[in-house]
Amino acid sequence: MHYMQKKNNKPVGIGFIGTGEVSQLHEIAVKALPNAKLVGVWNRNCSTGMKRAEQYGCKWFETPEDLVKDPEIDAVFVLTNLETHLQYARLAMEHGKHVLVEKPLAFTVAEIEEMKALSENRGLVCMPGHNMIHEASLKRAKSLIENGDLGKIISCYVMYNIHHSEERASTLPGIVRHLLTHNIYTMMYLVGNPRRVSAMKATRHYESLTQEDLAMVLLELENGGLAHLSASFAADDYSADPWTFLVKVIGTAGTTHYTYQDWVEIKKGYAHSHTYSAYQGSINNEVAHFVDVCLKGGEPLSTLDDAIIAQKVVEACEKSISEGVTVAIE
Ligand SMILES: NC(=O)c1ccc[n+]([C@@H]2O[C@H](COP(=O)([O-])OP(=O)(O)OC[C@H]3O[C@@H](n4cnc5c(N)ncnc54)[C@H](O)[C@@H]3O)[C@@H](O)[C@H]2O)c1
Repeated sequence: MHYMQKKNNKPVGIGFIGTGEVSQLHEIAVKALPNAKLVGVWNRNCSTGMKRAEQYGCKWFETPEDLVKDPEIDAVFVLTNLETHLQYARLAMEHGKHVLVEKPLAFTVAEIEEMKALSENRGLVCMPGHNMIHEASLKRAKSLIENGDLGKIISCYVMYNIHHSEERASTLPGIVRHLLTHNIYTMMYLVGNPRRVSAMKATRHYESLTQEDLAMVLLELENGGLAHLSASFAADDYSADPWTFLVKVIGTAGTTHYTYQDWVEIKKGYAHSHTYSAYQGSINNEVAHFVDVCLKGGEPLSTLDDAIIAQKVVEACEKSISEGVTVAIE
Protein backbone atom coordinates (compact mmCIF):
# COMPACT_ATOMS: atom_id res chain seq x y z
CA MET A 1 0.00 0.00 0.00
CA HIS A 2 1.15 3.56 -0.71
CA TYR A 3 0.44 5.96 2.10
CA MET A 4 0.05 9.71 1.90
CA GLN A 5 3.45 11.29 2.45
CA LYS A 6 4.27 14.53 4.18
CA LYS A 7 5.18 17.32 1.75
CA ASN A 8 7.23 19.65 3.97
CA ASN A 9 10.33 19.11 6.11
CA LYS A 10 8.71 19.97 9.44
CA PRO A 11 8.65 17.29 12.16
CA VAL A 12 5.56 15.06 12.12
CA GLY A 13 3.04 16.80 14.42
CA ILE A 14 1.45 14.38 16.86
CA GLY A 15 -1.69 14.63 19.02
CA PHE A 16 -2.64 12.26 21.85
CA ILE A 17 -6.26 11.29 22.42
CA GLY A 18 -6.14 9.99 26.00
CA THR A 19 -3.57 10.93 28.61
CA GLY A 20 -3.63 7.91 30.94
CA GLU A 21 -0.61 5.91 32.16
CA VAL A 22 0.51 4.73 28.74
CA SER A 23 0.63 8.29 27.34
CA GLN A 24 3.70 8.88 29.50
CA LEU A 25 5.61 6.16 27.65
CA HIS A 26 4.56 7.60 24.28
CA GLU A 27 5.55 11.11 25.33
CA ILE A 28 9.07 9.89 26.17
CA ALA A 29 9.19 8.13 22.80
CA VAL A 30 8.07 11.20 20.80
CA LYS A 31 10.44 13.49 22.70
CA ALA A 32 13.38 11.27 21.71
CA LEU A 33 12.69 11.78 17.99
CA PRO A 34 14.15 14.70 16.01
CA ASN A 35 11.54 14.24 13.25
CA ALA A 36 8.43 14.31 15.47
CA LYS A 37 6.80 16.76 17.87
CA LEU A 38 3.99 16.37 20.39
CA VAL A 39 1.64 19.25 19.44
CA GLY A 40 -1.14 18.65 21.94
CA VAL A 41 -3.41 16.34 23.90
CA TRP A 42 -7.07 15.79 24.70
CA ASN A 43 -8.40 13.73 27.60
CA ARG A 44 -11.97 12.99 28.74
CA ASN A 45 -11.13 14.15 32.25
CA CYS A 46 -10.12 17.81 31.74
CA SER A 47 -8.03 18.30 34.87
CA THR A 48 -5.88 15.19 34.21
CA GLY A 49 -5.51 16.19 30.57
CA MET A 50 -4.52 19.78 31.39
CA LYS A 51 -1.96 18.56 33.93
CA ARG A 52 -0.48 16.21 31.35
CA ALA A 53 -0.36 19.01 28.73
CA GLU A 54 1.64 21.08 31.19
CA GLN A 55 3.91 18.13 32.06
CA TYR A 56 4.47 17.38 28.35
CA GLY A 57 4.88 21.07 27.38
CA CYS A 58 2.21 20.95 24.68
CA LYS A 59 -1.26 22.34 23.86
CA TRP A 60 -4.45 21.25 25.60
CA PHE A 61 -7.45 20.74 23.33
CA GLU A 62 -10.96 21.11 24.71
CA THR A 63 -12.46 18.49 22.40
CA PRO A 64 -11.11 15.59 20.31
CA GLU A 65 -12.63 17.36 17.27
CA ASP A 66 -10.46 20.43 17.93
CA LEU A 67 -7.40 18.19 18.13
CA VAL A 68 -8.00 16.35 14.85
CA LYS A 69 -8.80 19.62 13.04
CA ASP A 70 -5.51 21.27 14.06
CA PRO A 71 -3.41 21.69 10.88
CA GLU A 72 -0.20 21.25 12.94
CA ILE A 73 -1.24 17.67 13.72
CA ASP A 74 -0.36 15.03 11.12
CA ALA A 75 -0.88 11.93 13.25
CA VAL A 76 -2.98 10.92 16.23
CA PHE A 77 -2.13 8.37 18.93
CA VAL A 78 -5.31 6.73 20.23
CA LEU A 79 -4.42 6.02 23.88
CA THR A 80 -7.87 5.65 25.43
CA ASN A 81 -9.58 2.53 26.73
CA LEU A 82 -10.22 -0.36 24.35
CA GLU A 83 -13.95 0.38 23.93
CA THR A 84 -13.29 3.81 22.37
CA HIS A 85 -10.37 3.00 20.04
CA LEU A 86 -12.49 2.71 16.88
CA GLN A 87 -14.42 5.92 17.62
CA TYR A 88 -11.24 8.01 17.88
CA ALA A 89 -9.32 6.21 15.12
CA ARG A 90 -12.29 6.88 12.82
CA LEU A 91 -12.49 10.54 13.87
CA ALA A 92 -8.76 11.01 13.21
CA MET A 93 -8.76 9.29 9.81
CA GLU A 94 -11.92 11.16 8.72
CA HIS A 95 -9.87 14.32 9.28
CA GLY A 96 -6.95 13.00 7.21
CA LYS A 97 -4.64 12.06 10.12
CA HIS A 98 -2.45 8.97 10.34
CA VAL A 99 -3.15 6.88 13.44
CA LEU A 100 -1.31 4.72 15.92
CA VAL A 101 -3.82 2.74 17.99
CA GLU A 102 -2.85 1.18 21.33
CA LYS A 103 -3.37 -2.53 21.81
CA PRO A 104 -5.74 -4.32 22.04
CA LEU A 105 -6.79 -2.60 18.86
CA ALA A 106 -10.52 -2.92 19.19
CA PHE A 107 -13.34 -4.78 20.84
CA THR A 108 -14.27 -6.95 17.83
CA VAL A 109 -12.82 -8.14 14.51
CA ALA A 110 -15.46 -6.03 12.70
CA GLU A 111 -14.11 -2.88 14.37
CA ILE A 112 -10.58 -3.61 13.13
CA GLU A 113 -11.96 -4.30 9.66
CA GLU A 114 -13.55 -0.84 9.72
CA MET A 115 -10.19 0.71 10.65
CA LYS A 116 -8.58 -1.20 7.76
CA ALA A 117 -11.19 0.02 5.24
CA LEU A 118 -10.77 3.63 6.40
CA SER A 119 -6.97 3.38 6.23
CA GLU A 120 -7.01 1.88 2.73
CA ASN A 121 -9.70 4.18 1.33
CA ARG A 122 -7.99 7.31 2.61
CA GLY A 123 -4.36 6.22 2.07
CA LEU A 124 -3.51 6.79 5.73
CA VAL A 125 -1.31 4.80 8.10
CA CYS A 126 -3.30 3.02 10.81
CA MET A 127 -0.76 1.06 12.80
CA PRO A 128 -1.49 -1.26 15.72
CA GLY A 129 0.44 -0.46 18.91
CA HIS A 130 2.09 -3.89 18.97
CA ASN A 131 5.16 -2.55 20.75
CA MET A 132 6.88 -5.78 21.84
CA ILE A 133 7.79 -6.80 18.28
CA HIS A 134 9.81 -3.58 17.92
CA GLU A 135 12.35 -4.91 20.44
CA ALA A 136 15.65 -5.25 18.58
CA SER A 137 16.47 -8.75 19.86
CA LEU A 138 13.07 -10.04 18.72
CA LYS A 139 13.87 -8.75 15.22
CA ARG A 140 17.05 -10.83 15.40
CA ALA A 141 15.04 -13.83 16.61
CA LYS A 142 12.67 -13.41 13.67
CA SER A 143 15.47 -13.31 11.13
CA LEU A 144 17.11 -16.37 12.71
CA ILE A 145 13.79 -18.21 12.38
CA GLU A 146 13.21 -17.01 8.80
CA ASN A 147 16.75 -17.90 7.72
CA GLY A 148 16.28 -21.42 9.08
CA ASP A 149 19.12 -20.93 11.61
CA LEU A 150 16.99 -22.56 14.34
CA GLY A 151 16.04 -25.48 12.08
CA LYS A 152 12.48 -26.75 12.24
CA ILE A 153 10.51 -24.76 14.85
CA ILE A 154 9.37 -27.00 17.68
CA SER A 155 7.93 -24.65 20.27
CA CYS A 156 7.45 -21.02 21.25
CA TYR A 157 6.91 -19.70 24.79
CA VAL A 158 5.76 -16.20 25.66
CA MET A 159 5.43 -15.74 29.43
CA TYR A 160 4.28 -12.53 31.16
CA ASN A 161 4.22 -12.27 34.98
CA ILE A 162 3.91 -8.71 36.14
CA HIS A 163 2.14 -7.94 39.42
CA HIS A 164 -0.46 -5.14 39.24
CA SER A 165 -2.44 -3.76 42.13
CA GLU A 166 -6.19 -4.25 42.02
CA GLU A 167 -6.60 -0.48 41.84
CA ARG A 168 -4.51 -0.29 38.63
CA ALA A 169 -6.12 -3.42 37.15
CA SER A 170 -9.62 -2.07 37.78
CA THR A 171 -9.18 0.44 34.94
CA LEU A 172 -8.18 -2.27 32.44
CA PRO A 173 -10.07 -5.15 30.84
CA GLY A 174 -9.23 -8.67 32.10
CA ILE A 175 -5.93 -10.41 31.42
CA VAL A 176 -7.12 -12.16 28.26
CA ARG A 177 -7.83 -8.88 26.46
CA HIS A 178 -5.35 -6.60 28.15
CA LEU A 179 -2.18 -8.66 28.59
CA LEU A 180 -2.49 -11.84 26.53
CA THR A 181 -2.75 -9.70 23.39
CA HIS A 182 0.98 -8.98 23.78
CA ASN A 183 1.78 -12.72 24.01
CA ILE A 184 -0.38 -13.47 20.96
CA TYR A 185 0.98 -10.91 18.49
CA THR A 186 4.56 -11.57 19.66
CA MET A 187 4.13 -15.30 19.03
CA MET A 188 2.53 -14.63 15.62
CA TYR A 189 5.37 -12.28 14.62
CA LEU A 190 7.99 -14.93 15.43
CA VAL A 191 6.50 -18.29 14.52
CA GLY A 192 3.32 -17.54 12.57
CA ASN A 193 -0.38 -18.01 13.09
CA PRO A 194 -2.07 -20.64 15.21
CA ARG A 195 -4.54 -23.25 13.93
CA ARG A 196 -6.20 -24.17 17.25
CA VAL A 197 -6.22 -22.79 20.78
CA SER A 198 -7.10 -24.11 24.20
CA ALA A 199 -7.20 -21.64 27.10
CA MET A 200 -7.87 -21.45 30.84
CA LYS A 201 -8.09 -18.55 33.27
CA ALA A 202 -8.03 -18.04 37.05
CA THR A 203 -8.32 -15.31 39.68
CA ARG A 204 -5.69 -15.74 42.41
CA HIS A 205 -4.70 -12.27 43.62
CA TYR A 206 -7.69 -9.93 43.22
CA GLU A 207 -9.90 -9.73 46.30
CA SER A 208 -12.80 -7.72 44.90
CA LEU A 209 -12.34 -7.59 41.11
CA THR A 210 -14.20 -10.43 39.45
CA GLN A 211 -12.14 -10.52 36.24
CA GLU A 212 -9.24 -12.97 35.79
CA ASP A 213 -5.67 -12.10 36.85
CA LEU A 214 -4.13 -15.15 35.16
CA ALA A 215 -4.60 -16.84 31.77
CA MET A 216 -2.72 -19.63 30.01
CA VAL A 217 -3.08 -20.86 26.43
CA LEU A 218 -1.81 -23.82 24.43
CA LEU A 219 -1.73 -23.34 20.66
CA GLU A 220 -1.16 -25.59 17.68
CA LEU A 221 0.73 -23.57 15.08
CA GLU A 222 0.25 -23.58 11.30
CA ASN A 223 3.94 -24.59 11.06
CA GLY A 224 3.15 -27.80 12.98
CA GLY A 225 4.83 -26.74 16.25
CA LEU A 226 3.20 -25.83 19.55
CA ALA A 227 3.15 -22.64 21.61
CA HIS A 228 2.49 -21.87 25.27
CA LEU A 229 1.41 -18.39 26.35
CA SER A 230 0.97 -17.29 29.94
CA ALA A 231 -0.14 -13.86 31.17
CA SER A 232 -0.54 -12.81 34.78
CA PHE A 233 -1.06 -9.72 36.93
CA ALA A 234 -1.26 -11.98 40.01
CA ALA A 235 2.38 -12.06 41.15
CA ASP A 236 5.90 -11.13 40.14
CA ASP A 237 8.46 -13.86 39.49
CA TYR A 238 11.34 -13.23 41.92
CA SER A 239 13.33 -16.33 40.98
CA ALA A 240 16.91 -16.23 39.68
CA ASP A 241 15.61 -16.56 36.13
CA PRO A 242 12.40 -14.51 36.24
CA TRP A 243 9.69 -14.86 33.61
CA THR A 244 8.63 -11.22 33.89
CA PHE A 245 8.39 -11.06 30.12
CA LEU A 246 10.15 -13.98 28.53
CA VAL A 247 10.15 -15.15 24.92
CA LYS A 248 11.79 -18.42 23.94
CA VAL A 249 11.78 -20.21 20.59
CA ILE A 250 13.18 -23.73 20.40
CA GLY A 251 14.09 -25.29 17.06
CA THR A 252 15.80 -28.50 15.97
CA ALA A 253 19.01 -26.55 15.19
CA GLY A 254 19.04 -23.94 17.95
CA THR A 255 17.13 -21.70 20.35
CA THR A 256 16.76 -17.99 20.99
CA HIS A 257 15.30 -15.99 23.84
CA TYR A 258 14.60 -12.48 25.10
CA THR A 259 13.60 -11.19 28.53
CA TYR A 260 12.76 -7.86 30.17
CA GLN A 261 15.71 -8.55 32.46
CA ASP A 262 18.02 -7.86 29.51
CA TRP A 263 17.90 -4.18 30.56
CA VAL A 264 16.79 -3.07 34.03
CA GLU A 265 17.34 0.33 35.66
CA ILE A 266 17.22 0.95 39.41
CA LYS A 267 14.49 3.57 39.37
CA LYS A 268 10.79 3.37 40.22
CA GLY A 269 8.64 2.14 37.32
CA TYR A 270 4.86 2.67 36.94
CA ALA A 271 4.03 -0.69 38.52
CA HIS A 272 7.39 -1.71 40.03
CA SER A 273 10.28 -0.73 42.29
CA HIS A 274 12.57 -0.80 39.26
CA THR A 275 12.20 -0.05 35.56
CA TYR A 276 12.29 -2.56 32.73
CA SER A 277 13.84 -0.17 30.26
CA ALA A 278 13.64 -2.68 27.42
CA TYR A 279 9.85 -2.18 27.61
CA GLN A 280 10.14 1.61 27.19
CA GLY A 281 12.70 0.88 24.47
CA SER A 282 10.12 -1.15 22.53
CA ILE A 283 7.70 1.81 22.62
CA ASN A 284 10.47 4.18 21.50
CA ASN A 285 11.24 1.87 18.55
CA GLU A 286 7.53 1.48 17.74
CA VAL A 287 6.95 5.26 17.65
CA ALA A 288 10.12 5.83 15.59
CA HIS A 289 8.90 3.19 13.12
CA PHE A 290 5.42 4.75 12.93
CA VAL A 291 6.86 8.20 12.20
CA ASP A 292 9.13 6.67 9.57
CA VAL A 293 6.19 4.99 7.83
CA CYS A 294 4.20 8.27 7.95
CA LEU A 295 7.13 10.08 6.32
CA LYS A 296 8.33 7.51 3.82
CA GLY A 297 5.33 5.26 3.17
CA GLY A 298 5.52 1.47 3.06
CA GLU A 299 3.91 -1.26 5.13
CA PRO A 300 4.27 -1.07 8.91
CA LEU A 301 5.98 -3.99 10.69
CA SER A 302 2.67 -4.74 12.36
CA THR A 303 -0.44 -4.60 10.17
CA LEU A 304 -4.19 -4.44 10.68
CA ASP A 305 -4.38 -7.96 9.19
CA ASP A 306 -2.11 -9.14 12.05
CA ALA A 307 -4.38 -7.34 14.51
CA ILE A 308 -7.44 -9.08 13.01
CA ILE A 309 -5.86 -12.51 13.54
CA ALA A 310 -4.69 -11.54 17.05
CA GLN A 311 -8.27 -10.49 17.85
CA LYS A 312 -9.60 -13.82 16.47
CA VAL A 313 -7.18 -15.61 18.79
CA VAL A 314 -8.36 -13.51 21.78
CA GLU A 315 -11.97 -14.36 20.95
CA ALA A 316 -11.06 -18.06 20.50
CA CYS A 317 -9.40 -18.00 23.96
CA GLU A 318 -12.57 -16.50 25.45
CA LYS A 319 -14.69 -19.21 23.78
CA SER A 320 -12.30 -21.95 24.88
CA ILE A 321 -12.48 -20.66 28.46
CA SER A 322 -16.25 -20.29 28.58
CA GLU A 323 -17.09 -23.59 26.83
CA GLY A 324 -14.11 -25.70 27.96
CA VAL A 325 -13.24 -26.63 24.35
CA THR A 326 -10.36 -26.37 21.86
CA VAL A 327 -11.22 -23.71 19.26
CA ALA A 328 -10.11 -23.58 15.60
CA ILE A 329 -9.01 -20.19 14.20
CA GLU A 330 -11.13 -19.60 11.08
N1 LIG B 1 1.48 -1.19 24.91
C1 LIG B 1 1.48 -1.38 26.21
O1 LIG B 1 2.36 -2.01 26.77
C2 LIG B 1 0.36 -0.79 27.01
C3 LIG B 1 0.50 -0.58 28.39
C4 LIG B 1 -0.56 -0.02 29.09
C5 LIG B 1 -1.75 0.27 28.43
N2 LIG B 1 -1.86 0.03 27.11
C6 LIG B 1 -3.12 0.34 26.40
O2 LIG B 1 -3.28 1.76 26.36
C7 LIG B 1 -4.66 2.11 26.49
C8 LIG B 1 -4.81 3.05 27.68
O3 LIG B 1 -4.31 2.40 28.83
P1 LIG B 1 -3.72 3.20 30.09
O4 LIG B 1 -2.81 2.26 30.77
O5 LIG B 1 -3.20 4.53 29.70
O6 LIG B 1 -5.05 3.30 30.94
P2 LIG B 1 -5.51 4.45 31.94
O7 LIG B 1 -6.64 3.87 32.71
O8 LIG B 1 -4.37 5.02 32.68
O9 LIG B 1 -6.07 5.56 30.94
C9 LIG B 1 -7.24 5.32 30.19
C10 LIG B 1 -7.49 6.51 29.27
O10 LIG B 1 -8.71 6.26 28.56
C11 LIG B 1 -9.58 7.38 28.74
N3 LIG B 1 -10.97 6.92 28.67
C12 LIG B 1 -11.56 5.93 29.39
N4 LIG B 1 -12.85 5.80 29.03
C13 LIG B 1 -13.06 6.72 28.05
C14 LIG B 1 -14.19 7.08 27.26
N5 LIG B 1 -15.35 6.44 27.38
N6 LIG B 1 -14.05 8.08 26.36
C15 LIG B 1 -12.87 8.73 26.22
N7 LIG B 1 -11.77 8.43 26.92
C16 LIG B 1 -11.88 7.44 27.83
C17 LIG B 1 -9.22 7.94 30.10
O11 LIG B 1 -9.65 9.28 30.21
C18 LIG B 1 -7.68 7.81 30.03
O12 LIG B 1 -7.12 8.83 29.23
C19 LIG B 1 -5.42 0.79 26.62
O13 LIG B 1 -5.87 0.41 25.34
C20 LIG B 1 -4.36 -0.19 27.09
O14 LIG B 1 -4.59 -1.52 26.70
C21 LIG B 1 -0.84 -0.47 26.39
